[in-house]
Amino acid sequence: MISAPKGTKDVLPQDSYKWHYIESAARKVAEDFNLKEIRTPVFEHTELFLRGVGDTTDIVNKEMYTFKDKGDRSITLKPEGTAGAARSYIENGLGNAPLPVKMYYIIPAFRYERPQAGRLREFHQFGIEVYGSPSPDTDAEVISAAALFLKRLGINDVGLNINSIGCRSCRASYNAALKDYLRPRLSEMCPTCRERFEKNPLRILDCKEEGCKAITKDAPRMIDHLCEDCSAHFKAVQNYLKAGGIDFNIDPNIVRGLDYYTKTVFEFVSGDIGAQSTVCGGGRYDGLIEELGGNPTPAVGFAVGLERLMLLMENTGVDFPAERGPAVFIAGMDGPGRERAFALTCAVRSLGGSAECDHMNRSLKAQFKYADKIGAEYVVVLGDSELSGGVCKAKRMADGSVTEVKLEDIPSFFAKK
Ligand code: HAM
Repeated sequence: MISAPKGTKDVLPQDSYKWHYIESAARKVAEDFNLKEIRTPVFEHTELFLRGVGDTTDIVNKEMYTFKDKGDRSITLKPEGTAGAARSYIENGLGNAPLPVKMYYIIPAFRYERPQAGRLREFHQFGIEVYGSPSPDTDAEVISAAALFLKRLGINDVGLNINSIGCRSCRASYNAALKDYLRPRLSEMCPTCRERFEKNPLRILDCKEEGCKAITKDAPRMIDHLCEDCSAHFKAVQNYLKAGGIDFNIDPNIVRGLDYYTKTVFEFVSGDIGAQSTVCGGGRYDGLIEELGGNPTPAVGFAVGLERLMLLMENTGVDFPAERGPAVFIAGMDGPGRERAFALTCAVRSLGGSAECDHMNRSLKAQFKYADKIGAEYVVVLGDSELSGGVCKAKRMADGSVTEVKLEDIPSFFAKK
């Protein structure tokens, strides 16, 4: 037997309604925030992620699914949605539309990580990206979309943590302070951190090695080195969040695992899903569009991991509304009855109703049982007397009540259910 690749998960027919529920909640939030969907390819040129996500990140260094295609191009399955959305924004001149440009996506993403609960190699994200507004109210708007999405799904016990990691100018002076702090103990740090020391010292704060974590524990914090503009921006974001009734904590340790962030960064974290506790992560990334060759364009967004969200909902007993079965199961007896059942089933469907009939040559009793199992709302039996009399009894499975329906009225009767 060939099994699914490690770190991937099938969504089985009996569970797909949960995905539909989450996805339609995501699309409804998107609609309510006037976000339009963007669909970009599952694979992109590898260079996009090297420049976008950053060549000192774990994602780029260790986790990308990269391969050469038959034309000898280096291709990567997207590890996240922001870089592709930004590439498309530039390539398609989306910035010519009235600003801000607000978009969302629901995508598969791929990272070669060690699988564990809430961490897969193929996973899914609902993300939003807003381009063109440098204002702190837009950070709050994006955060409020994530908060509303989680709230609408009935998720209450997630905490919102926010931080600011500054802009290009204050980052430079912070990097100098961080390097001064780390320099005396650099030889004790892991090889990756030693490399990051020159290229991107902030990334050292994201190292998972225990030894490095101990050294960085008391390192200077970016939040204490913000320039006037970044500091005012961060204060304003907090005020907007308060105005929107969104609770938050300031966590100076958030640096995020991707290099494009500037100013506000945030995470929604849960205590109910184990080590992989971040359900949603995002922030402002005012330099990415320019870095990728576009005009300087401020941007802010987030992505929610849908498998983590699902895990959180299952672990905390949040309800998924039950899936509806067909409006009617039309059971036929013998040749003519079965044929008429098929014809009426087709007729209900052609008027836009949902209907089902037997395809396994079941006895009448077994058809009833099956109809109940698949959650049919009504069952209709077509035997000799129904066929000759032209009238049948529609049994409502929930309460056993019976309604007489003329055979010719079956399609319109059930199309409305
Ligand atoms: P990220 O923090 O790398 O950010 O991922 C966002 C979310 O995706 C995480 O909070 C988590 O729920 C989920 N996730 C990440 N990796 C895995 C995995 N291996 N298995 C399951 N779930 C996972 C980004 O991807 C940014 N693009 C977010 C963003 C959008 N920032 C601005 N705009």
